[in-house]
Amino acid sequence: MDVLGATPTRNLALELARVTEAAAMMAGRFMGRGDKEGADQAAVNAMRLILSTVDLNGIIVIGEGEKDKAPMLFNGEKVGNGSQPDVDVAVDPIDGTRPLAFGRSNSLAMVAVAPRGTMFDPGPFVYMNKIAVGPQAKGKINIEKSITENLRAIAKAKDKAVEDLTTIILDRPRHDAMVAEIRKAGARIRQIPDGDVAAALMTAWADSGVDVLFGVGGTPEGVITACALRAMGGEIQGKLYARDEDELRRGREAGYNFDKVLTMDDLVSSEDVFFATTGITDGELLKGVRYYGDHITTDTLVVRGLTGTVRQITATHTTDKLENLSALRY
Ligand code: FBP
Repeated sequence: MDVLGATPTRNLALELARVTEAAAMMAGRFMGRGDKEGADQAAVNAMRLILSTVDLNGIIVIGEGEKDKAPMLFNGEKVGNGSQPDVDVAVDPIDGTRPLAFGRSNSLAMVAVAPRGTMFDPGPFVYMNKIAVGPQAKGKINIEKSITENLRAIAKAKDKAVEDLTTIILDRPRHDAMVAEIRKAGARIRQIPDGDVAAALMTAWADSGVDVLFGVGGTPEGVITACALRAMGGEIQGKLYARDEDELRRGREAGYNFDKVLTMDDLVSSEDVFFATTGITDGELLKGVRYYGDHITTDTLVVRGLTGTVRQITATHTTDKLENLSALRY
């Protein structure tokens, strides 16, 4: 990727912030309106438009939406203005469509970029079993081992007792056995209705109070999480998860190995990653979008793998000036 040249290099994530801000400002209008599809469409339109202005030659590798048949940026779709660098792009215009539609917390717009050919392409296999931790426990987890063994390893790495650990897990019936094991091991549990990217990022966020994410969530979200955690110094491991025998058979026929541990390197093989995410509704990581009539405020996290720089950008957008320049009606 030419941003790796000898001269001071460009932080693409700063430009990606404009993409996620626009998606969040458009989607934020749908808060509580019960219209998941309308919100998704608004976020997708905004992302597509602003991405087309960014200096990159991108191909969408992770175009979230397939699982729910939601409006989406399509896998294989070209994005950016066509100039260098050649990159893979992962988008999740809204992670937490349901929380947004029902006015709940932790809905985020997000995008990640990495050099061409470095992101894992999950094909149509939408679920992945995951374990994710922050920097202190990086290198200490192993998805092949039991939850109890992982909890002990994380507790040791963080110099505390298993009882002091807080796990986070999507509240789904498929996690009943995991929840039972975590309870037996003695760790605390936060069961969340949605949003396992935000949950994984919390493990790497000082003072979030969250130590580890367990459980099965979206595969696209797993790849995006890997991009973000590379920059934030954490770790995610995953394994593709088949919902039934038929999906397992189709996966195997297509050459996917559901027994293989997907490491950070498998999920995104380059350190040269960029990630931006903007809060749509209020959450633990970021504030949601606020509308003040003549202006709108956004809160965005911008991270870069090569430098490990994590920025939080609060922006004030002047509505009428923006609308003179852009087709988007905020
Ligand atoms: P979307 O809002 O993009 O649908 O994703 C929300 C989410 O909670 C993800 O964070 C998570 O990975 C996935 O859905 C879990 O899938 P499911 O809701 O089918 O269990």
